[in-house]
Amino acid sequence: MNKSLQSTTTLHNGVKMPWMGIGVFKVEEGPELVKTLKYAIKHGYRSIDTAAIYGNEASVGQAIQEGVKEAGISREELFITSKVWNSDLGYESTIAAYETSLNKLGLDYLDLYLIHWPVENKYKEAWRALESLYKEGKIKAIGVSNFQVHHLEELMKDAKVKPMVNQVEYHPRLTQKEVHTFCKNNGIQLEAWSPLMQGQLLNQSILIEMAKKHNKTVPQIILRWDLQNGVITIPKSTKEHRIMENSSVFDFNLSEADMERINSLNQNHRVGPDPDNFDF
Ligand SMILES: NC(=O)c1ccc[n+]([C@@H]2O[C@H](COP(=O)([O-])OP(=O)(O)OC[C@H]3O[C@@H](n4cnc5c(N)ncnc54)[C@H](OP(=O)(O)O)[C@@H]3O)[C@@H](O)[C@H]2O)c1
Repeated sequence: MNKSLQSTTTLHNGVKMPWMGIGVFKVEEGPELVKTLKYAIKHGYRSIDTAAIYGNEASVGQAIQEGVKEAGISREELFITSKVWNSDLGYESTIAAYETSLNKLGLDYLDLYLIHWPVENKYKEAWRALESLYKEGKIKAIGVSNFQVHHLEELMKDAKVKPMVNQVEYHPRLTQKEVHTFCKNNGIQLEAWSPLMQGQLLNQSILIEMAKKHNKTVPQIILRWDLQNGVITIPKSTKEHRIMENSSVFDFNLSEADMERINSLNQNHRVGPDPDNFDF
């Protein structure tokens, strides 16, 4: 299954999504981002994760347009994700936000569109909008982000289409057992954001020891652990050597004992906001 950067998992509606992509959170609009993404596409990345709130969809779009030409591939070979921001949650406003994202990206469809955060009393209306767009064929797959089990349960009470993906903070310090089990049982694919804990795990001794054993780096050990746990991963880097490094995780295997040791690093520790207690 996880053989190369182009290997995909099949979402519950049959759409294929790459196991690995590149994230662009906190990367400003501009030539550096365009260059970064073109490099990634040329070197085999097929999935890009952005969001309206990142304010960089125009550069992502430019990189897609130029990147596919330079790599000699078609747009259909890419998998593009964006997310509707909290202030746009609502039926009409979410549809309008989707159109705005598409225009900025210069695309005529998205592969995946997510509700970025589960804002109480708002996400269900937004979900109806995503369902409409999906049914009209304007998006290949729809999903959520930062949803806890109770948010998913609430959403699914009225949903006509079950989310295909839940993108959550996920790394060795936050293994999200409950959410992961619920998602598995419901055919919802889990996707990891901040898989590298924003660079904060590089000095962790167990991970360093494991990296030495496998002749790999700590980020590669973590990303491999994601894949073997059946979790899609989207590490962010703007450095070419790291973009390559992060993608070189398809040529080794962690043993069950290795996997358990990494699992045991969990402290339910977040680097990002808590989906049950955020005020934006
Ligand atoms: N849905 C959500 O609410 C949400 C929230 C946060 C993030 N996300 C998505 O998830 C993506 C990834 O998360 P993230 O950007 O927060 O954090 P991350 O991928 O865990 O870590 C990125 C940080 O690690 C560094 N890094 C990357 N590869 C490295 C390597 N091989 N060795 C050493 N350092 C390395 C990067 O620096 P350099 O760039 O300098 O290499 C950057 O500072 C985001 O870009 C975004 O697309 C979604």
